[in-house]
Amino acid sequence: MRVRARDPAGDDQILLGENLELLPRFADGSFQLIYIDPPFNTGRTQTRRTLRAVRAEDGERVGFAGRRYSTTLLSRSSYGDQHHDYVAFLEPRLQHAHRLLAREGTLYFHIDYREAHRCKLLLDEIFGPECFLNEIIWAYDYGGRSKRRWPAKHDTILVYVRDPDAYHFDSEEVDREPYMAPGLVTPEKAAAGKLPTDVWWHTIVPTNGTEKTGYPTQKPAGIVRRMVLASTRPGDRCLDFFAGSGTLGAVAAAHGRSYVLIDSNPEAVRVMRERLGARGRGGGRASAAGAG
Ligand SMILES: C[S@@+](CC[C@H](N)C(=O)[O-])C[C@H]1O[C@@H](n2cnc3c(N)ncnc32)[C@H](O)[C@@H]1O
Repeated sequence: MRVRARDPAGDDQILLGENLELLPRFADGSFQLIYIDPPFNTGRTQTRRTLRAVRAEDGERVGFAGRRYSTTLLSRSSYGDQHHDYVAFLEPRLQHAHRLLAREGTLYFHIDYREAHRCKLLLDEIFGPECFLNEIIWAYDYGGRSKRRWPAKHDTILVYVRDPDAYHFDSEEVDREPYMAPGLVTPEKAAAGKLPTDVWWHTIVPTNGTEKTGYPTQKPAGIVRRMVLASTRPGDRCLDFFAGSGTLGAVAAAHGRSYVLIDSNPEAVRVMRERLGARGRGGGRASAAGAG
C-alpha cells in the first residue's frame, strides 16, 4: 500500500534559517516533491528594485511616444550569490534532499547553464544515474541579446526520482500545449493540444502581473505548477529549501498540497508570509494569488 508523504499534522511551514541546519529536523522520506532553485553562483549580488513611475513633464525617464516619467524607488531586495566551491556547498544539501524524498518522490533541481554539468555529475553520484529522469529546458525570451554569441535564454531543471520503479508521474494532470502544425493532426487532437515535452517555453514572471512579488529571481508559477501536478497527488507534501518568494508554496497551496519553505534571507520570509499568509497557508486561496 502507498504511504502518503504527508505530515499527519499537515502544517504548512515557512522557516527562516540556514537550510543545512534545518533539514536534519525532518524525517527520512517525508516529502513527495522537492523543488530547489539554489543561487546560481553568478558571483553577483542578486538585486531587484521595484519602482513607481508617474507622468511628469520634467521626469528623468522617457517612455512610449516621448512621454516623460519620474520614478520613485518603492523597495529593493537582494541576496549574495557567490560560492567558492559550489559543488561542496550543494553536496550536503542534496544528500538531505535524497534522504527526505518519499519512495514515490521526485526532485526538481533548477540551475543555469554555467553550473548544470557539474550538478548533474553530483546528482548522479548521490541518487545514482538510474534515478535520472529528465533534463528539462525552460526557455524564455527576455532581456538583452549578446551579439558576440548565441544569447543564453534558458535554465536547466534536472529531474531525479528516489526510486525508478516506484516514482509517481501523471502527465495527464498537466496543461497541454498547442501543436506547432495543428493542420497535421486531427481536429480533436489539435483542440486537445499536445503533452509538453522536456522543453518548456514559458515567459518569466510578468513585471506588471499579480504574480510578481518583487523578490529577485522569482520563478513563474506556471513552470512549477507542471512539476507539482505531474509528480504529486492532492494532499502530498512539498519542500523548497531555497524558497525565495515561495513560488512552490503558492502553487502547492493552490492545488491542495502542503509545503515546507526554508530561506536564510529575512526578506524572503517576509515576502513569503505576505504571499501566503502569516502562518504559511493562512489567509486562504486569495493569499496564493497568481499561483493557481
Ligand atoms: C534563486 S533564489 C530562489 C527563488 C525562488 N525559486 C522563487 O521562485 O522565488 C535562491 C534563494 O536561496 C536562498 N539561500 C541561499 N543560500 C541559502 C541557505 N544556505 N539556506 C537557506 N536559503 C538559502 C537565498 O536567500 C534566495 O532567496
